[in-house]
Amino acid sequence: MTANKAKAPNGKLGVMIVGLGAVSTTFITGVMMARKGLAKPVGSMTQYDKIRVGRGEDKKYLHYKDIVPLADLNDIEFAAWDVYPANAYESAINCEVLKEKDIDPVKDELLKIKPMKAAFDKNYAKRLEGDNTMGDITRWEMVERLREDIRKFKEETGVERVVVLWAASTEVYVPVDEKIHATVESLEKAMKEDDREHIAPSMCYAYAALKEGAPFIMGAPNTTVDIPAMWELAEQTKMPIAGKDFKTGQTLVKSGFAPIIGTRCLGLSGWFSTNILGNRDGLVLDEPANFRTKEVSKLSTLESILVPENQPDLYGHGNDEDTQYYHKVRINYYPPRNDNKEGWDNIDIFGWMGYPMQIKINFLCRDSILAAPLCLDLVLLSDLAARAGRYGTQRFLSFFLKSPMHDYTQGEVPVNHLFQQYVMLKNAIREMGGYEADEEID
Ligand SMILES: NC(=O)c1ccc[n+]([C@@H]2O[C@H](COP(=O)([O-])OP(=O)(O)OC[C@H]3O[C@@H](n4cnc5c(N)ncnc54)[C@H](O)[C@@H]3O)[C@@H](O)[C@H]2O)c1
Repeated sequence: MTANKAKAPNGKLGVMIVGLGAVSTTFITGVMMARKGLAKPVGSMTQYDKIRVGRGEDKKYLHYKDIVPLADLNDIEFAAWDVYPANAYESAINCEVLKEKDIDPVKDELLKIKPMKAAFDKNYAKRLEGDNTMGDITRWEMVERLREDIRKFKEETGVERVVVLWAASTEVYVPVDEKIHATVESLEKAMKEDDREHIAPSMCYAYAALKEGAPFIMGAPNTTVDIPAMWELAEQTKMPIAGKDFKTGQTLVKSGFAPIIGTRCLGLSGWFSTNILGNRDGLVLDEPANFRTKEVSKLSTLESILVPENQPDLYGHGNDEDTQYYHKVRINYYPPRNDNKEGWDNIDIFGWMGYPMQIKINFLCRDSILAAPLCLDLVLLSDLAARAGRYGTQRFLSFFLKSPMHDYTQGEVPVNHLFQQYVMLKNAIREMGGYEADEEID
């Protein structure tokens, strides 16, 4: 039996979500419908996947819940913050992701989720107009009010544990600044000095969550917990953190498809990805400063799978001063499609003697339908990790994330290869269930 076997969950689990938009309401409604037996949580690894534990004659294939003590869906209580005052029912209807027939059976429960006032700064998402905010207060005041919100939620609902999940809009890009983001001390100083340029509102949510003993998950590409100061805070508070950016549609395809090219030693000269989407996420990303955050995240996926330095003949061609293949990502706001994003990938590859070929992928997906199971898995597995005494960046959750966190100050490389990520996920589950990690072929 390994040392980090997870403790059993006690009582209820509070899931506090930043943002009550398309992704959050699809996630919440799906969980409520699933626990009534009216819908299936398709796409969720924690609800469906079976992995092998043990070897040889002892091997068994089990669901995660039979290996590790996961919180039960019936034990989840939801809460949210949002810039707009619409409750979870109104928001689910407005977002038009789910049909009314799939929302109405849990209408009463959804009506009760009224968003708390958001810690918000319009400079971080210029396109949003809502007024359900804490107003023009300092960053430190935001932290204090958010901590109060978490404590109040615990008292009122009696939940034993809380996980905070960011499923709010993408903020403008905040580059890592060593003077501010390197230590907890410098981060707190900047918050107390109300340094609005370097402290995004999302950092206040993360800081408040960790201080209140709640794991924090970043579902947008924001750099929030991807800074040394937050890694230090997670160590101090012994809390797990995970991020960034849910890996849903195009990037899921990319991280699963790029290994075909790499494993088969084919060459790549360019990969062009473009999308149309028309939900509020698309509206916010139509602003160049917000798109920049997403672009950095989306571009990072290929770099650690098809590495020019390792295979200069295969991946060292193209643009970027001829150092590597050409990789471009575009997102276009197009309202008629709402949440039903369409993505196109054009992949220029080459084979024997350099002869060129093309691959086209056209994915007609549904953004929030793909994101909701990731929310569930990230929440349940972060709660599990906390009970197993795991803290800091949870690399085993890279499987669910577009731009997985890693210690870049130590030259660590992210793992973007979908099947390597899956090995990391399976081994973490095995270890938290008291089994040994292994790399056997199943
Ligand atoms: N759906 C996907 O496939 C996918 C994939 C990766 C990442 N994401 C990210 O998930 C996030 C949510 O996506 P969505 O489609 O639900 O967007 P959405 O616009 O429908 O919902 C986001 C909500 O966050 C609220 N918000 C913004 N700033 C806030 C703050 N400071 N405090 C509280 N609330 C705040 C907005 O008012 C809005 O209601 C986005 O950042 C998106 O980029 C989505």
